[in-house]
Amino acid sequence: MSFIKINKKKCIKCGACVEVCPRSILRMGKGWVSQAAEKAELLCMKCGHCVSVCPQGAFSLQKMPASKCVPVKETLNITPKEIVQFLKTRRSIRIYKGKKVPRSLIEKIIGAACYAPTGMNRENVKWKVVYDKSEVVKLKNLTVEWMKSLVKKRDRMAQMYSFPAMVAACERGNDVILRDAPHVIIAYGHKSDPIAGISSIIALSNLELAIHGHQLGGCWAGFLDRAIMSYPKLQKALKLPKDHQSYGSMMVGYPKYNYKRIPQRKPIDIIW
Ligand SMILES: Cc1cc2nc3c(=O)[nH]c(=O)nc-3n(C[C@H](O)[C@H](O)[C@H](O)COP(=O)(O)O)c2cc1C
Repeated sequence: MSFIKINKKKCIKCGACVEVCPRSILRMGKGWVSQAAEKAELLCMKCGHCVSVCPQGAFSLQKMPASKCVPVKETLNITPKEIVQFLKTRRSIRIYKGKKVPRSLIEKIIGAACYAPTGMNRENVKWKVVYDKSEVVKLKNLTVEWMKSLVKKRDRMAQMYSFPAMVAACERGNDVILRDAPHVIIAYGHKSDPIAGISSIIALSNLELAIHGHQLGGCWAGFLDRAIMSYPKLQKALKLPKDHQSYGSMMVGYPKYNYKRIPQRKPIDIIW
C-alpha cells in the first residue's frame, strides 16, 4: 500500500508536489503522482512539503492527511516593513514583572518555535520548562556555585567574564544570571545526535521571536548554559532524560519596560 494518497477528483496534475519534494521520491507519470521507488517511504522525511504546496488539497501522506494541515491564511501575512520592525525591536529582556506566564501560552510559543528548521526534518528538539520560580532560583544558585569554583581556581574564564563581580552581585540579591525571570525554557536533545545542538539553537532563536511576538520578554541564559556544560551538579539538577543534554536556555516572563527606540548596530559586513 502506498504511503501517499491522491484525491483524484481534486488533483489537477500540476506536478508541484513532485517538484518540491526535497528527496525526489515522487514521480509524475502518465497517470497520477506516484512513488518514484519502492523504498520511497523510507526516504521520506515527513516534511509535508507535498501536502503543503498542493493548491487543491488533493495530496495527503498516510500519516499527514491534508485535512489535518491548517490552511495558510494569506490575510495574516506580514509586510516587509512589519517584519523588519519586528526583528529590529526584539530586545533581550532583563527586567521582568513577577507575574507568571500561563502554561498554555508557554506551550503556544514553544509550538511556534518548533516550526524552526531541523536538519533532515528530524524534529529533534525537546523542551524542559523550569516553571516554578524556586527551581529557577536553584539553577541560578548552582550557577553561582560554579562561578565561585572557577574564581577559586583562578580560571581564565572567571577573569574574562568578571565572575567575582557577578558572584558579589548575586550575593547582594541582584540576580545578574537569570535576572529574576519567573521561568527558564531549555532546549535539549540526544547526546549522540550530531545535529541536535544546532537544531536546538535555531529553535531557541525562533522561540525568542515567538516570545517577542506575544508581548513577552526573553533573554538567552548564556551563563547558565556555560555552567550546565561543565558543572555536573547542575546537569543533575536539570533531571533530563538519560543520554540527553541541554543545548541552550532562555529566560522568559513579562517585561517590565517597553522599548521606544531601535538601538544602533554596527554597519553590516558583507563580502559579495
Ligand atoms: C548565545 C547568547 C548568550 C547570551 N547570554 C546572555 C546572558 O547570559 N545574560 C544576558 O543578560 N544576556 C545574554 N545574551 C543577550 C546579549 O547580551 C544581547 O543579545 C546583546 O546584548 C544585544 O542586545 P539585544 O538582544 O537586546 O539586541 C546572550 C545572547 C546570546 C546570543
